[in-house]
Amino acid sequence: MTTATAKCCPPINIMKWVEENRDQLKPPVGNKYLYDGSDFFVMVIGGPNARNDFHVTNSEEYFFQLKGDIVVKIREDGVIKDIPIREGETFFIPSGVPHAPTRPPGTIGIVVERRRPPGETEHQQFYCDNCGELVHDKEFDCADIVKHFAQSMEEFWADPELNTCKSCGTTHGKPTPIKKITFEPEVIIERE
Ligand SMILES: [Fe+2]
Repeated sequence: MTTATAKCCPPINIMKWVEENRDQLKPPVGNKYLYDGSDFFVMVIGGPNARNDFHVTNSEEYFFQLKGDIVVKIREDGVIKDIPIREGETFFIPSGVPHAPTRPPGTIGIVVERRRPPGETEHQQFYCDNCGELVHDKEFDCADIVKHFAQSMEEFWADPELNTCKSCGTTHGKPTPIKKITFEPEVIIERE
């Protein structure tokens, strides 16, 4: 028989939590732990974000879009696709699928991820804006996704050795925040 060693937290009103923590949901990623558990963690993520990386993990991820509409870019069979996730929709990302959320201002999403076992690595991949080639693939043990993930992107954006495309020479500095996404008749993502 399993014996409980932890006490339950009281229920959380998420929109109230967002109002109390909104100033901490800042670019580039806009994430903060709602729950930081030993088996999984839950993040609230507020737009706008300001990132151009694809995240790749060894585990599944669960997205729920609580407020506003976003686009998650995924890379399947070498092709980048835009997946609109509308308010109220949910989305599952299998392990190993590179994904890049683009979140306009005012949007609020929930993401659930598996707690990585110690030593398990994940990737941040950057693809060229101009020619689509892989510019940089950083594999690292991201012990804390809220603290270390944005820091890793900042290192890439600041270093021309890392962020210059070997194929066409395009550099990839720090991107500006998402300003607006148009969904119809096609997805158009505008940055500030
Ligand atoms: Fe390129």
